[in-house]
Amino acid sequence: MFAKVAKRAFSSSTANPYKVTVLGAGGGIGQPLSLLLKLNHKVTDLRLYDLKGAAGVAADLSHIPTNSVVKGFSADAQDGIKNALKDTDVVLIPAGVPRKPGMTRDDLFSINASIVRDLATACAENAPHASILVISNPVNSTVPIVAEVLKSKGVYNPKKLFGVTTLDVIRASRFISEVSGTNPTTEKVNVIGGHSGITIIPLISQTKHKLMEKEKRDALIHRIQFGGDEVVKAKNGAGSATLSMAQAGARFANSVLAGLEGEADVIEPSFVDSPLFKSEGIEFFASPVKLGPQGVEKIYSIGEISPEEQELLDKCKETLKKNIEKGTAFVKS
Ligand code: NAI
Repeated sequence: MFAKVAKRAFSSSTANPYKVTVLGAGGGIGQPLSLLLKLNHKVTDLRLYDLKGAAGVAADLSHIPTNSVVKGFSADAQDGIKNALKDTDVVLIPAGVPRKPGMTRDDLFSINASIVRDLATACAENAPHASILVISNPVNSTVPIVAEVLKSKGVYNPKKLFGVTTLDVIRASRFISEVSGTNPTTEKVNVIGGHSGITIIPLISQTKHKLMEKEKRDALIHRIQFGGDEVVKAKNGAGSATLSMAQAGARFANSVLAGLEGEADVIEPSFVDSPLFKSEGIEFFASPVKLGPQGVEKIYSIGEISPEEQELLDKCKETLKKNIEKGTAFVKS
């Protein structure tokens, strides 16, 4: 039995070894996210970067007997970020401050916008071909910030930039199962729009629960949109979702890697440079995306939605447009 487990643990089933970098690896999300990436056999070279603590996290994780090398990089070291990013395939960015009770994600803009801008600059200079997965909030604005920085450096590839909205997707699966008494692992909910409050739109009409009574459905939608507040309140000043976010981030990273490897039919919702509502001035939008060897392979339309969901979408678009413009303007100014 042990021999079998050990063999699985040490053998790398992946045909292509992948380098993955976490920027902000010492933080609440960064640490468990790095742990989950250390357990992923698609990852063979894991680089952890933070202003503080990355070396310790890397030393700790390096004792886990999976088939990857893990190294910590510090901002103090000369070329720390450069070496963390050099030739990497996938970069995850959970660097930045999290919310405290009473704050919206937009309240984080004044601090996180410049952190993300500077890290995006480092990505453009050292890993211009990498897939970049943005976790730092407000995602609706930080993704446009990364895009603008990459454009200004002449290395923007819209197929390789992703806002991670997977936490909304996993919350939707969990919460719908709680109100319906079903198995969360088999509940799939398409979540579109953006990643904050009313810009998060779970499409209940496309699930097997489309006949759920209105009151119950409205409460469910509200809980999915504002589920993050439950965690912020319960942590009482000590931050926002970290563990569930780490699981969500690791799941999305695994999907991106599966796409790069050429696995068929890898589809996940993500906030990407999207043609869906560009004619209305909305440059980025979350909808199901097929992931492939070049990154985004196909962006699916939102499909048929109910009149109530159409109303939610109209409200989402107003806010989303402003959030995106705020991010873009920050870099341009
Ligand atoms: P945290 O404060 O625990 O960790 C953030 C880490 O980033 C710290 O270790 C800090 O040293 C590091 N950092 C700050 N500036 C940096 C820089 N310039 N370079 C490298 N590292 C830097 O925060 P936590 O809880 O990990 O949250 C991180 C971000 O993720 C926040 O912006 C939060 O709002 C966001 N978030 C996003 C979610 C999503 O669904 N996309 C869900 C939950 C949180």
